[in-house]
Formats: sequence, structure tokens, C-alpha cells
Amino acid sequence: MTNTPKAILFDLDGVLTDTSEYHYRAWKRLADEEGIPFTREENDAHLRGVGRRDSLLYLLHGRQVSEEKMLEMMDRKNRYYNESIKQMTPAELVSGGHELLAEIRAAGIKSAVASASKNCRIVLDLLGITKYFDGIADGNSVVNSKPAPDIFVFAAGLVGVSTPDCLGVEDADAGVEAIKTAGMRALGIGPRERFHRADFVLPDMVNKHLQDLLKS
Ligand code: G6P
Ligand code: MG
Repeated sequence: MTNTPKAILFDLDGVLTDTSEYHYRAWKRLADEEGIPFTREENDAHLRGVGRRDSLLYLLHGRQVSEEKMLEMMDRKNRYYNESIKQMTPAELVSGGHELLAEIRAAGIKSAVASASKNCRIVLDLLGITKYFDGIADGNSVVNSKPAPDIFVFAAGLVGVSTPDCLGVEDADAGVEAIKTAGMRALGIGPRERFHRADFVLPDMVNKHLQDLLKS
């Protein structure tokens, strides 16, 4: 593929906004209540970009709990997360985000969201950026979560672009894995050592232009 993709598929949490911190705090509160040790380092290494159930399974470290209790814990974590995002405003969009998304549209490139979160649409609305996307794939769209490629393949389908013509943008290694397995180019956002298969990496998304996303 050339360097210019026909579609750019963005992960949400940790890419367009720093909600990954809110996810961490909600899990941490649950873990504290349950007397389960859990650190920010563990969160970064194991939970970033990982779906709700898989995150809880990690947190439990093999502790046996009933399905009912698991559902209650996932629900509780989600309540804590929802409490914290209630206060979100468009100011929490990454700096330069509006300009970047508008630039992508002006260049005739499709854009979509590929997020594992079931809260994705609420967050997009709170940030005021729903209007920029030609497609939204979220935690309700597919069964197999990242690192399975499904959500990125689904997002590509929503915007009518073949997978080799897509660029995926992710802050989680599981997400980069999903993008690469989907046959797309992958841009990792974060420290280089976090990613195994990214085609290129940027330390953050602050004030980025389309050209910055296309370098490799
Ligand atoms: C994203 C976040 C994860 C979160 C997952 C599920 O991938 O990066 O931290 O666990 O979505 O989010 P949800 O809002 O459905 O619990
Ligand atoms: Mg993410």
C-alpha cells in the first residue's frame, strides 16, 4: 500500500482522549474494595485496550467467582467509570483533535472509530466528535475482542474500504496486534517498547497533523 490510506481507523480510549486513566481508576476502586492487589503498572501492561470481561478475569488472577458475582463486579466497575466520565467535556479531546479529524475529512480519507468500549458513543458525544466519523465500531459490534482483528475489519466494512487500504491507530499492544492481523498498517501511540508489531510509533497524539500519521 502507498503511504496514504483510504481510511483511518481510530481506537478511542488512550488515543483521542485519556479515558484510559478513568478505566484504570474504576478498576482500581473495584480491586481495592475486593482486597485484590492491583497497580498502575499492571494496568498498563495487561488491561490497556482489553475488554471488560477479560480485564476482570485478569484482575481476579484465577480466583474462582460465580458468573453472577462477575456480572456484579463488571457492572460496579462500569458504574464507577460512568460516574467519572459524566464530567467530561470537549476539552478532554486530545489537543488538536478537531483540526486533525477535519483535515482527514478534507483530504477525502474516511475515518472510523474501532473501540472495544460499550461506552464509546457516550464518550464521542461528550467530546463533541461524533460528527467526524463515517463509521463507529464499538464494544457492541463484535464478539471477539482485541487482539482479535474483528473490530477493525468491521470498522473497515462500515466505511467501505478494503483492509490493506486502512491505517489503524492504537495505544494498546493488543490493539496493534488486532490491526496487523486485520492486514492493515498500524500506528502505535505511546512508548516504543510497548508495541511488538507497530509499523511506526508516535509518543502521543498531541497536535498531530495528517502528515504525522502517515510517516513510517
Ligand atoms: C477500551 C479500553 C479498556 C476497556 C474496554 C471496554 O478498550 O481501553 O480499558 O476495558 O474499552 O470498555 P467498556 O467501557 O465497555 O467497559
Ligand atoms: Mg486504547
